[in-house]
Amino acid sequence: MPDGFRYQGGELCAEGVRLAAVAADVGTPFYIYSAATIAARYRRFAAAFAPASPLICFAVKANSNLAVLRLLARLGAGADVVSEGELRRALAAGMPPERIVFSGVGKTRAELDAALAAGIRQINVESIPELRALAAAAEAIGRAAPVALRVNPDVDALTHVKIATGKRENKFGIDLDDAADAYRLAADLPGIAPVGLAVHIGSQLVDLAPFRRAFGRVAELILELRAGGLAVERLDIGGGLGIRYHAETPPAPEAYAALVRETFGALGLELACEPGRVLCGPAGLLVARVLYVKEGAGRRFVILDAAMNDLLRPALYDAWHDIVPVRLPAAGAVLSPADVVGPVCETGDTFAVARDLPPLAAEDLVALTNAGAYGAVMSSTYNSRLLVPEVLAAGDRFAVVRPRPSFEDLLKMDAVPEWIDDAVPLPRSARGTA
Ligand code: LLP
Repeated sequence: MPDGFRYQGGELCAEGVRLAAVAADVGTPFYIYSAATIAARYRRFAAAFAPASPLICFAVKANSNLAVLRLLARLGAGADVVSEGELRRALAAGMPPERIVFSGVGKTRAELDAALAAGIRQINVESIPELRALAAAAEAIGRAAPVALRVNPDVDALTHVKIATGKRENKFGIDLDDAADAYRLAADLPGIAPVGLAVHIGSQLVDLAPFRRAFGRVAELILELRAGGLAVERLDIGGGLGIRYHAETPPAPEAYAALVRETFGALGLELACEPGRVLCGPAGLLVARVLYVKEGAGRRFVILDAAMNDLLRPALYDAWHDIVPVRLPAAGAVLSPADVVGPVCETGDTFAVARDLPPLAAEDLVALTNAGAYGAVMSSTYNSRLLVPEVLAAGDRFAVVRPRPSFEDLLKMDAVPEWIDDAVPLPRSARGTA
C-alpha cells in the first residue's frame, strides 16, 4: 500500500481519514488524495537533485485539480502545461508564470497568444511550422518568445507503446538530425529567443537505460550547437520516471538525479524537469462500492460502481492497479480469483482479470491504488455517468475538491435548437400526430 494510506482499526484510511466515512458523506465512486504523500514525494524528488536545484515543473496533465496544484505551488513547484486550460489552472493555483513551461505538439494560435500574454518561462516548440507560428504571434505584440526546442532523440523508452514518445516515428519533437538547423533558424527569426532544448521520451519508464541514451544524445547536441556559436542556456529533461504499480522496480529519484548530474553536470545549464506520475500517482486512490457479485461459469465477477469512464488506464493500456478491500478481511480469509468490472456496456470496462481477492459482497468498499496520476483527469461522462468527484485528505481533515455534478448539470451541457422538430420532416401520414 502506498504511503499515506493505512489500515487503522481494520479500516483503510487516507492519512487520518476513514474512507468509509468519506464514502458515507460523498457517495461512491470518488478519488481521494493524500496531501502529505504528495508533499513527501515532491520533497524527496527535489532533494534528490540537491545541490543543483532544477525547476520542477509538475506535469499538470497528471492531476490538474486546483487543490493539488495549489499544494504543489506552495511546495515550490512550477508547471508543465499542454493547453490553455492547464495554463489557466496553473495560474489560478498560484504558480508564478516564470515557473511555467508550455509543451505539446499542436498548440493553437490562441494558446500561443495566451502563453505570451501570461509571460511564462518558456514555450517548448516541437516543429518548424510551430516555430514560425509562434514567431508571428510574438512579433504581433512586439515580443521575443523564449523558446526551448523539443528534440526527438529516437530512443525506445521501453514502456507501453501508447505512452512512448521518443522514437523517430512518434509525432513528438524535432528530429535530432534537424535540430541544429532548427535552432539556427530559431536564433534568426525575429520574435523568437532560443533559450535551450527540451526532451521527453515517454511515461512510466522503469529503467534508466533509455534516459541515459536520450540524455547522452542531447548532451552531444548541446556541445555541437555551442561549438557552432549558438547559446544553449537551458535544458528541460521532461518527465517520465515510473512508479511501481505491480512488479516494476522503477529507479529511485536519487538514481535518476545522479544520471542527470553525470550527463549534464559539467555543461552549466539551467535545468528544468516535468515529473507528473512520480509525484502524485501513489498519492491517490479510487474508492468504489461493490454493486453485485455474480458467480458465472467458473468465474467470479465483482461488479463495481466505478467504471472505465472513471479510471480509463486499465481499458486503454491494460494497466494494473492493485485492488484492496477498505475493511481488512478476517484473519485467514481465503483469496480467490475474481474479474473486477464496471457497469459500462463494454467488455473493456474491466479493472482486473482473475485477480486474487478476499471474499467481497455487495455494499463492500474497495480501493484501486496508485490512481493519483492520470485517473480523474482522464475521466469522462461516458454512458452519461456523472463525472467522478475528487477528495483531498490532510491529517484528519478532508474536503471535496471537485464535487460530483448533478444530473441537471449533465443535461445542461447539451443544447437542443428550437427548430429541432422541423429538422427531420415526418412522413405525411405521421403529421399532426407528433
Ligand atoms: N512532459 C511531457 C511533455 C509529457 O508529455 C508528459 C506526459 C510528462 C511530462 C509527464 O510524464 P510523467 O512524469 O507523468 O510520466 N495517460 C498515460 C500517461 C500519458 C503521459 C503523457 N505525457 C497513463 O495513464 O499512463
